[in-house]
Amino acid sequence: MGSGSSRSDMNSPKRYRVAAVEPDQRFRTRLTIQLAATEARVSDTIESLVASLEGNRPTVVVFGPGLANDTGLAQAQRLARQHPEMGVVLVCEELSLSLLQQALRAGVRDALALDADDAAVRQAIERVGESLVSMRTAPGTGPVDLGRVIVTFSTKGGVGKSIMATNVAVALASRSSKQVVIVDADLQFGDVAVLLGVPPTHTTVDAAAAIDQADTAMMDSFLATHPGTGLRVLPAPVEPSAADSISPEQMLGIVRMLRTMCGFVIVDMPPHFDDVVLALLEEADDVLLVASMDIPSIKNLKVGIQTLGLLSLAGPKLRLVLNRANAKVNLDIADVERAIGLPVQFRVPSDIAVPQAVNRGVPVFLDKPRSGAALALGQLADAFLGVEEQEAEAATVHETRRRAWRRTDKEASGQ
Ligand SMILES: Nc1ncnc2c1ncn2[C@@H]1O[C@H](COP(=O)(O)OP(=O)(O)OP(=O)(O)O)[C@@H](O)[C@H]1O
Ligand SMILES: [Mg+2]
Repeated sequence: MGSGSSRSDMNSPKRYRVAAVEPDQRFRTRLTIQLAATEARVSDTIESLVASLEGNRPTVVVFGPGLANDTGLAQAQRLARQHPEMGVVLVCEELSLSLLQQALRAGVRDALALDADDAAVRQAIERVGESLVSMRTAPGTGPVDLGRVIVTFSTKGGVGKSIMATNVAVALASRSSKQVVIVDADLQFGDVAVLLGVPPTHTTVDAAAAIDQADTAMMDSFLATHPGTGLRVLPAPVEPSAADSISPEQMLGIVRMLRTMCGFVIVDMPPHFDDVVLALLEEADDVLLVASMDIPSIKNLKVGIQTLGLLSLAGPKLRLVLNRANAKVNLDIADVERAIGLPVQFRVPSDIAVPQAVNRGVPVFLDKPRSGAALALGQLADAFLGVEEQEAEAATVHETRRRAWRRTDKEASGQ
């Protein structure tokens, strides 16, 4: 089952408490009504709120619109520093990008407009509350079990990187007990959010701006959740020009933090090669090298591998995936392998169900689960699951990975 479905029993209000602060009487009344179901204590000043809260239980503190200003944000920052068990959610009259960025820099975990529907407010409170609880219960010492970073890469556009990334991500989220996150590293033209049908509330711009001060709870508040699978999503910026403001160090910081939070971090790459891509290729555990079954794509990949020094950069991590592979294109797999110099580890057939699913904003793995493409993409995801499961039991990591990949090779070549 997806990791998202296991959250339902965590919503007990007893795991964390909710409080609110609002100096203005009118807003206070409105907040009291909006938060009634959470049994929030609503105060008029931050001092009276802190004085009224006993002990140091995880507490979500909702700051009302009267505090959506420099003074209020300074108070939020102080509160976050002095009380790590508290997480602030800002509810403001109008949520501009600059206010959101200011709020996040002040340590606010999430921000919403006052007219957001009750469900959105409840979800934001739940998310922040749960992350406060999990931070408290997480072991503070000892080696952190880092998630596996899987990136999709190609030297050519339009070969199916994003289709691979989104479908492998939802497949892993559906089948693994671990949390799975997908990051759209195609900062200019990323379409992961569209392919998943998830609105990009927060994006890599917010995460990058906050990464230096961010803790895992804040990072968690930037992630959208794919309904049904519980897959967490960090979409690309909505404005292509925002890509320039994100540095390779920031992208690396985001992925490194996410791998402390999730069992799998899937990263969808842009079609070009730059410092962000280079940094992520180095960080990755597995690089799904996507080629489509046509001569230009294969030639392009061959040249790309040579000029980028890809074999020395990421040799053992490269997993060649042939997309749109079927018997009708008169291209021999052995010729492809010889040209590229790598074994074909996975094949995904060309399937009309893929563009149909794209147009519906639903990954084909979920839209047409019995289609050839969905089955192949599910198999691709299973190879990672298989490795993970075997790792838990087997004596050495290397030996088990080798066996799992060899098995997948045999299955692929037996098709
Ligand atoms: N196996 C497939 N069968 C049929 N159509 C496919 C298949 N894979 C991809 N496509 C089609 O190709 C289009 C491009 O795929 P995708 O967006 O994943 O490519 P990309 O490599 O991410 O492109 P870009 O480099 O622009 O990011 C998709 O919209 C989809 O309709
Ligand atoms: Mg893409």
